[in-house]
Amino acid sequence: MSIVETLPLDAETLREDFPILSTVIHGDRPLVYLDNAATTQRPRQVIEKLVEVYERQYANVHRGIHWLSDHSTDLFEEAREKVRSFINAGSAPEVIFTTGCTMAINLVARSWGDANVRAGDEIIITEMEHHSNSVPWHQLAERTGAVVRHIPITEEGLLDLDAFDELLNERTRIVAVGAVSNVLGTINPIGEIVRRAHDAGALVLVDAAQSVPHDKSDVQAWGADFVAFSGHKMLGPSGVGVLYGRLDLLEAMPPFLGGGSMIRRVTLEGFEPADPPAKFEAGTPPIVPAIGLGAGIDYLEAIGLEKIHQHEQLLAAQAHAAMEQIGGVRFLGPAPDKKAGIISFTLEGIHAHDVAQILDRHGVAIRAGHHCAMPLHKRLGVVASNRASFYFYNTLDEVEILAEALQDAKRIFRRR
Ligand code: ALA
Repeated sequence: MSIVETLPLDAETLREDFPILSTVIHGDRPLVYLDNAATTQRPRQVIEKLVEVYERQYANVHRGIHWLSDHSTDLFEEAREKVRSFINAGSAPEVIFTTGCTMAINLVARSWGDANVRAGDEIIITEMEHHSNSVPWHQLAERTGAVVRHIPITEEGLLDLDAFDELLNERTRIVAVGAVSNVLGTINPIGEIVRRAHDAGALVLVDAAQSVPHDKSDVQAWGADFVAFSGHKMLGPSGVGVLYGRLDLLEAMPPFLGGGSMIRRVTLEGFEPADPPAKFEAGTPPIVPAIGLGAGIDYLEAIGLEKIHQHEQLLAAQAHAAMEQIGGVRFLGPAPDKKAGIISFTLEGIHAHDVAQILDRHGVAIRAGHHCAMPLHKRLGVVASNRASFYFYNTLDEVEILAEALQDAKRIFRRR
């Protein structure tokens, strides 16, 4: 069943930039890579940039008084500027390079959290958070005696904003929320959440790991205080992530990790920290991964984030329609127009791992399990689910292969 005839992007041509997408597995099955919420693939432009830097442009940054170090530093800082512009941060020092989204959230929970959260204070997260945006807050609560509270989800898989209003009070210190659920695909109303949290005097951290790679982002329009995301989910290498923080907050926060680079001066008695971003980039930073992320951003901007978002939503709508025909599919999350290109589902009577294994025989790579969101799965009453997640290089043909493979899984299990 075809509800989508054409897509806004010429994915077939874009795929030529991605060597890994022409892989054939199990003898004759073209790889159908639908695990993009876990990590995306890299175009040759990013891979070539990494090689070029290691071959000709690499030295440690912010340290050497020599040409190569200056050059490497310029590339690294250019990458910071690309990130700044990509998310519309107000200034480059508001962009901290971390090792990933998880590290970025932990940085805030440790640095801002330990300095500002006390026993009896409240931290609001949601029932749909990835563990990386729940565990650091539970750890903060354990250290301080604060309480973690949860915005519930509706039956449709949206955040219950009325319940959010009831949770907010003068004890709320921070609201930590994902912009897009890595399981449900739900696109959360971040601007509205920020407005309500700020009215109550609380800060907001946005886990944007599943949104920044897929849609236009404007951290100032959101009004968010902190925004975290990963490089490897947006064409960059693993090992780099970003924390955006409002400059006044970053300036007031103590450093998280100690070491080289993060200091202005060190004496036998102690140390004086540097200004942001150096204050939060102790040790040698992820130099080449950050430069690679910059190359990924160039690539995404050349395509256009609006088109990427539309392309993925249409693929998800088509997948939804095709999967509805199969019977026995339970979709987790709202209708396609309320979500990003992420479809989590269960197939009646078949364990998620079996489904994923049968799909793999067809060349289709999807994720199976709890997707680092155990409380959400408990809330949904399922132990495990399957997840197909799209990127701009996926095609309608691949959606068809996904649907055929799911039909096959049903056939195989009907015979048992
Ligand atoms: N956070 C990644 C996912 O949701 C790994 O799959």
